[in-house]
Amino acid sequence: MRVLVSVASRHGATAEMGEEIALELARAGHDVHVVEPDEVEGVTDYDAVVLGSAVYAGRLAVALRALVERFGGQLRARPVWLFWSGPVGDPPLPITPPDDVHVIADAVGALEPRCFVGRIDPGVLDLSERALVALTQAPAGDFRDLDAVRAWARTVAENLTAQPV
Ligand SMILES: Cc1cc2nc3c(=O)[nH]c(=O)nc-3n(C[C@H](O)[C@H](O)[C@H](O)COP(=O)(O)O)c2cc1C
Repeated sequence: MRVLVSVASRHGATAEMGEEIALELARAGHDVHVVEPDEVEGVTDYDAVVLGSAVYAGRLAVALRALVERFGGQLRARPVWLFWSGPVGDPPLPITPPDDVHVIADAVGALEPRCFVGRIDPGVLDLSERALVALTQAPAGDFRDLDAVRAWARTVAENLTAQPV
């Protein structure tokens, strides 16, 4: 199946997850296209879509939300999976999902939205981001579990194979 993977990432951690997901889907035999949300011109060419977003200040990325606003109808007409990368630390915090994740999931009919633990690299943050991290005492580090990301991608691949074309 022809699959679009579109991930909104500010500092690369979530984009790398998207690349891992794309690799797993391709390994399973799917024709995978990775396109940044702002570059997506429509989804009618795809049989299925995987959307991903980093979370900042309790919300999914603007680019992801804008993509859903532009193509909500087209997205709803095909299987869509949604993941986000947000909580950091061990145990990962915050435990609450982004404020808008259910709205976005409902808007596209996303199948089982999935949270993955993220990464904070202090070296790439701008001043306001550093201030927010200091204020919330969010721990720096790479807490991502890429094996979990790949395993999720394999379940997506299996489900895609099972979807009627
Ligand atoms: C300034 C700042 C604010 C953040 N706010 C949240 C938040 O509200 N909720 C959350 O779950 N994660 C939050 N995070 C964690 C990021 O979502 C996480 O580090 C993510 O993996 C970053 O992905 P990216 O490198 O693709 O941008 C925040 C990180 C930073 C640096």
